[in-house]
Amino acid sequence: MNLFLDTADTAVLRTLAVTGLVDGVTTNPSLIAKSGRPMGEVIAEICGFVEGPVSAEVAATELEAMLAEGRALAGIAPNVVVKLPVTKNGLIAVRVLAEEGIQTNVTLCFSANQALLAAKAGATYISPFVGRLADTGEDGMQLVHDIRAVYDNYAFDTEILAASMRSTDHVQAAAIAGADCATIPPAVFEALFKHPLTEQGLELFEADWARTGQSIV
Ligand code: E4P
Repeated sequence: MNLFLDTADTAVLRTLAVTGLVDGVTTNPSLIAKSGRPMGEVIAEICGFVEGPVSAEVAATELEAMLAEGRALAGIAPNVVVKLPVTKNGLIAVRVLAEEGIQTNVTLCFSANQALLAAKAGATYISPFVGRLADTGEDGMQLVHDIRAVYDNYAFDTEILAASMRSTDHVQAAAIAGADCATIPPAVFEALFKHPLTEQGLELFEADWARTGQSIV
């Protein structure tokens, strides 16, 4: 499974990209607003040090404006993926952009039917929002399972990009459900490395090693 970071904070991104475990990045209008920087500048900076797909979301909702924004965003760098909402206009734009060779990420997906439409439109990625469904009391991960089944039934090659991941349990469950990718906030990414028994085991090994008085190099 590919792991993407869900952030527009380039300083944080740089510290995590050095792990070699960051396969791509997703942003959205809220994350760009949080960065306090011009969107084009942020996306260009990220594409300068992340080789994988970098999602940049259109702000328009009308078709022609969506297409203009999508083409402008795709022009920033070859690895930009244009993010569009799963609306009627959004999916028409997906088809047009796909025909122009532009990769797309269909966002704000809350049903398997929406994911089916996105795949038929030719989306590169579909982003089911697991955490936001959970916020309403629904089982967000069931949506990832359902989309996996639909896509496998018809051999769609649209990739499932599990989004709105709020915890390490979400990431693990998305991997088990067969998501192709998950986009993760930086704090959750950091937490993926950790387990209390790893910390405890390391402390014990360090103490025992110190008692040997040895040095390996
Ligand atoms: C996905 O691409 C979105 O940027 C993101 O995952 C939304 O997450 P949130 O519900 O935590 O805002």
